[in-house]
Amino acid sequence: MIIAKTIEALNEAKKSLKGNTIGFVPTMGALHQGHLSLLQRAREENEHLIVSIFVNPTQFLEGEDLDAYPRKEAADIEICERAGVDIVFMPNNDVMYEEDELCIGAPAVRGYILEGEKRPGHFDGMLQVVMKLLHLSSATHAYFGKKDAQQLALITQMVKNYFMDVQIVPCEIVRDEKGLALSSRNVYLKDDEKERALSLSDSLKCATKLVMAGELDVEIIKKEMLKVLDKADKVEYVAIVNREFKALKQVEIGNTIILVAAWVGKPRLIDNLWI
Ligand code: PAJ
Repeated sequence: MIIAKTIEALNEAKKSLKGNTIGFVPTMGALHQGHLSLLQRAREENEHLIVSIFVNPTQFLEGEDLDAYPRKEAADIEICERAGVDIVFMPNNDVMYEEDELCIGAPAVRGYILEGEKRPGHFDGMLQVVMKLLHLSSATHAYFGKKDAQQLALITQMVKNYFMDVQIVPCEIVRDEKGLALSSRNVYLKDDEKERALSLSDSLKCATKLVMAGELDVEIIKKEMLKVLDKADKVEYVAIVNREFKALKQVEIGNTIILVAAWVGKPRLIDNLWI
C-alpha cells in the first residue's frame, strides 16, 4: 500500500495501477465499520482501490468541530492496509487549497434545505473538495454512504451537471447492534447519551412501523417520530422527502427518504431511512 501525501506522490503511485477500474472512497478519517463497508464494496467491485483521508476545512462552519474532529492516522492506515487499499491519499490543507480559489456552489434549493439550511455553506465546501478528489483519484467508481443522504444526492447531481465520467455508488447505512448509525462523531457521546442517541434510529423504526401498517400521511408520521425524539436534547429537523428532496404530503413507497437531525450531548447527529 502506498501512502501519498502530495499530488505528485499520488500521480506517481497511480502509474502502478494497470487495470481499468479504480474504486475510490473519500473520507475524513477516524475510520469505523461504516467506512469499512464502503472500502470492502469498492475493493470487490474494482481492480484498484484508492482511499482519501482529509478533514476538509471548507465544509466546516465557523464554530463547528474542525479542530476537535477525531483524527486517528495510525489506526486508519492499518485499517486501509487490511482492507486491501492500493493507495491512501492523505494531503494537508496546503496541498489541497490555494488562496482565492474558484469555487462551485451547491444548488440554490437542494443545497440550502435541511442540512444546507442548518449548516449554510457546508455543501459548497463539501462539493469543492469532492470535485477535486474525484479528479485527483481518476476514479471510475466512487462510493458514498446513504448515511449522508443529501450529500450523496448533491454529489450525484454535481457529477451529472458537470458531465464527470465517474459512477457514484450509494452504499447502505451501517449501524451498531442497537441501531445507532455509525459516525466518527459518536466518540463524543457519553454512556447515557449513547442511549438517548438511539432515539434517532428509534424514530425511524417508528416511521417504518407506521408505514408498514399503512399510514402514509407525512404529518402524522412526523408527529409520532417527534414523540420518540423527545429524548434528544434538541431536534433540528424531521423531514420526509422524495428522492429529489422535494417535501411530500404522502409517503411514496420506493421514492421516499425520511431524515432526522438532532443534538444529543456534544454531537449533532443525523440519520435517515430510505423507503
Ligand atoms: P466521512 O464523514 O468520513 O464519511 C465518508 C463516507 O463514509 C461518506 O460517504 C459517508 O456517507 C460514509 N459513512 C459514514 N458513516 C457511515 C455509515 N454508518 N454507514 C455507511 N456509510 C457511512 O462524508 C464525508 O466524510 C465528507 O463529507 C467527504 C465526502 C469525505 C468530503 O470531505
